Amino acid sequence: MDYAKQFEDIVAGQLARVEKMKEAADFIDYETLGKIVIGVIGGDGIGPAITAEAQRVLECLLAEEARSGKVEFRAIDGCTIERRAEAGKAIPDDVLDAVKQCHVLLKGPTTTPRKGDRWANIESANVAMRKELDLFANVRPVKVPALGIDWTFFRENTECLYAMGSQGLNITDDLAVDFRVITTQGTARIAKLAYEFAKSNGKKRVTIVTKANIVKTTDGKFLNVCKDVSKGYPDIETDDWYIDIMTAKLLDEKRRQQFEVFVLPNIYGDILTDEAAELQGGVGTAGSANIGKQYAMFEAIHGSAPRMVEEGRAAYADPCSVIRAGAMLLSHIGYRKQADKLFAALDKCTVLERKLVITGRPGGATGAQFADYILSNIE
Ligand code: IPM
Ligand code: MG
Repeated sequence: MDYAKQFEDIVAGQLARVEKMKEAADFIDYETLGKIVIGVIGGDGIGPAITAEAQRVLECLLAEEARSGKVEFRAIDGCTIERRAEAGKAIPDDVLDAVKQCHVLLKGPTTTPRKGDRWANIESANVAMRKELDLFANVRPVKVPALGIDWTFFRENTECLYAMGSQGLNITDDLAVDFRVITTQGTARIAKLAYEFAKSNGKKRVTIVTKANIVKTTDGKFLNVCKDVSKGYPDIETDDWYIDIMTAKLLDEKRRQQFEVFVLPNIYGDILTDEAAELQGGVGTAGSANIGKQYAMFEAIHGSAPRMVEEGRAAYADPCSVIRAGAMLLSHIGYRKQADKLFAALDKCTVLERKLVITGRPGGATGAQFADYILSNIE
């Protein structure tokens, strides 16, 4: 094996990506589209069950727009672990073609095979979708009003350990090497989005999270580029923390109330947002937006929970994560009023009133009952 050649190829691929980022057009303007196509991908495990409930809620909120042809819901089949394993691809070609015909996507969780699983070791469909559609910003809000928590995470979504996550090298039986990639362009675009969000939402602080004391080259770049971007926002305070102490400070009852907006490399964002979601009631309660300039995808932050399906409990899975993702989708494509109504209904049903409770088991509400409960609370 010629490792020097493999490394050369990796570098060439990433340099080409940098050039593409330099050329990238501006954000798509949904208002100028005659029709917005919303693709719905059920995914695996509990995915189809919870995504169907989220689609039902969105169809209700956009009934008029669907009737007049301003919005179209389009089912995209075939993004299942069986089809992906059979095709030997993270996303089968026909699925990717269908996805690219849509403007935004509502997506259920898709199973990511691990080494040693019964499935071929293909790349995660999530990660592949983020790369294929260049969905560079993973925006994850976490709110716990009772604890004074109102955070929005801007997780970089295409770089860091994820860029080359499936292309590491086993140099010998004893030596394995992975690659971590951070670019100026990739960092600047996520930082700008975070600061712009802070500016237009009256937030006073943006917190940069890295481990730049140890991972000096890549995290060093991420930190420096974020600080450069921060200079364009003199009214917003910037602080920077290392990821280890940051995980601790999310549990510090006084300190955590001061945080508002976070910007961080992919892997730290992956980990920190699970911790944050746990404070809100678990990963089943959190939605996630994957935003690019041309496409956007809205999904749950959790996995496909195959055990629930094996145990016959799919109908009892909590659809709130995908419904919340649906509310973010509405807001993203310009239906703010409908989005706010849905956010309000979600808050009422999951926090304030809780007339129905989902336990994930018989005895608790089913996903369909909970979606009905939410729909009956949309004013
Ligand atoms: C997430 C998930 C994904 C990730 C997995 C399912 C590939 O954990 O969206 O946070 O690692 O990004
Ligand atoms: Mg994660």
